[in-house]
Amino acid sequence: MSLQGKVAIVTGAAAMLGSAIVRAFAQAGAQVLAVDIDAERGQALQADLGSGCRFVACDIASDAALDALLADVLATEGRIDFLINNAVVYGDSGMAATRGEWLRALDVNLVSGAVLVQKAADALAAQRGAIVNMGSVGGKFGTANRALYPAAKAAILQLTRNQAATLAPRGVRVNSVSPGWTWSDALSRMAGGDRAHADRMAAPLHPLGRAGDPDDVAQVVLFLCSDAARFVTGADIPVDGGFSMLGPDQGRSARDWFDA
Ligand SMILES: NC(=O)c1ccc[n+]([C@@H]2O[C@H](COP(=O)([O-])OP(=O)(O)OC[C@H]3O[C@@H](n4cnc5c(N)ncnc54)[C@H](O)[C@@H]3O)[C@@H](O)[C@H]2O)c1
Repeated sequence: MSLQGKVAIVTGAAAMLGSAIVRAFAQAGAQVLAVDIDAERGQALQADLGSGCRFVACDIASDAALDALLADVLATEGRIDFLINNAVVYGDSGMAATRGEWLRALDVNLVSGAVLVQKAADALAAQRGAIVNMGSVGGKFGTANRALYPAAKAAILQLTRNQAATLAPRGVRVNSVSPGWTWSDALSRMAGGDRAHADRMAAPLHPLGRAGDPDDVAQVVLFLCSDAARFVTGADIPVDGGFSMLGPDQGRSARDWFDA
């Protein structure tokens, strides 16, 4: 699919999943603005991808930084076709979280993306563009000792529907993607850097038998922004190898459980 001549903004672009999204859009011919607070990794990504990608250092929790980002993109590229809200902070002390920790987590993981949608809405409407918000299986099920991250991710799924309904009359589509366990800094740390170990741990929970690759997620984000998805809005697409189709019985019948 060709996105030649289109302009995409990807937040949280410097880490593994974000950079896979940047790469997929750049390979499809889009000009990609890779947004992150991590300047070292962001600049390395820009150097790696060349002219299809420009790194912009930006803290999405700052209104002034978002205004500067959009002014920069519109001055240099003249348009915005796609916005991918992917940035995240994972810190989550569950029931022990202070009000400050709650507000910071919700600010980065939920509110900043919503503010960026508000600020970019006119430019996106001018192109009849598309937004993809990053959800997670973490926003769909109960997990002990976590609260901040899953609450934000659950809210993103609802916010996506509200944004989709609000922006549909202006021709802007808004969808979310909900990955399962995906090879990333966090998963790599848990697996001691051993991808095969991560896949072994993921296999019982993901019927397709492994953890996701960043590009598994990137390809679905790309699809949702492409013309192939022109009649899709307000949807969440799980990219989780089947994780979320399973119930607590892990896909096994009562007979199977008794027989085991
Ligand atoms: N990795 C997984 O297994 C997994 C599973 C489900 C969903 N997701 C979702 O995928 C997305 C990417 O996750 P990841 O694992 O790559 O996370 P990550 O922590 O590896 O990367 C997040 C990126 O966001 C950037 N960031 C953080 N705060 C920022 C701010 N204020 N302004 C700008 N950039 C900021 C960080 O610098 C980092 O580069 C997230 O939305 C996450 O919820 C990931």
